[in-house]
Amino acid sequence: MDKKIALITGAARGIGLATAKLMLEAGWAVAMVDRDGDELRAASKDLSGAKAFQFDISEPEQVAEMTAAVLASFGKINAVVNNAGVADFSPLEATSFDSWREIMATNLDGTFLVSQAAIPALKETRGAIVNIASISGLRASTLRVAYGTSKAAVIHLTKQQASELGEFGIRVNCVCPGPVKTKLAMAVHSQDIIDAYHDAIPLNRYGSEREIAEAILFLCSEKASYVTGQILAADGGFDATGVGLPALRR
Ligand SMILES: NC(=O)c1ccc[n+]([C@@H]2O[C@H](COP(=O)([O-])OP(=O)(O)OC[C@H]3O[C@@H](n4cnc5c(N)ncnc54)[C@H](O)[C@@H]3O)[C@@H](O)[C@H]2O)c1
Repeated sequence: MDKKIALITGAARGIGLATAKLMLEAGWAVAMVDRDGDELRAASKDLSGAKAFQFDISEPEQVAEMTAAVLASFGKINAVVNNAGVADFSPLEATSFDSWREIMATNLDGTFLVSQAAIPALKETRGAIVNIASISGLRASTLRVAYGTSKAAVIHLTKQQASELGEFGIRVNCVCPGPVKTKLAMAVHSQDIIDAYHDAIPLNRYGSEREIAEAILFLCSEKASYVTGQILAADGGFDATGVGLPALRR
């Protein structure tokens, strides 16, 4: 196949689906991976150039099967976007070990497993990995001990992967989105939280799925051919504001 192939996890909705659509528009073919079969089939059915793969990326055996299925279908992988993620916002003392493990299993273990399984294919194409972390991995906060820690680990995992895979021509970068109104975010963002984000973000608004997808596409593309090991916050400036008190604005 002439087209480049992107494997995108968590592609049934939100940022993953927007990335799949943008990459299709840019001429890529896309393997859309998600564990939610109904939503995945509905999202992919009218997307020409995309194929759906229903797998849970937190399960090592399923990741092995998924990688084999994608390669059997497309023959190669040029880019992996580790986007699948889960969130659970609760205070430290109320975070059960089961909840901690569930967050780590998808956000961290899944990112490790999918990347590892794709390495032989990426060596052949001298391809790229883009890991999706979060501003919660860059700045600590209340209510996200598991989520924030998993995303900080994804940031470091990116640097580990970039250090080791560079000699094979494989680039590995990370995008840290600011708040985007997806199902994941809206499950935990009250109106108070939405208003406070608007105050704290220099651009004074949430991002769109498409704006995050543009950063991901860039890092997958040849335009980023000398960029590896980098952490790109697509966050309206949130990470830049060390003392970002709204009261300090004129
Ligand atoms: N929305 C935001 O505000 C925001 C901010 C920062 C970072 N992020 C990150 O962006 C990524 C995408 O988030 P979103 O907001 O689009 O979420 P979303 O909930 O809309 O979509 C996530 C998708 O991942 C899938 N998924 C979850 N666990 C999976 C697993 N183990 N195996 C396969 N598929 C799985 C879900 O079924 C869902 O379709 C996540 O990694 C999230 O942490 C989101």
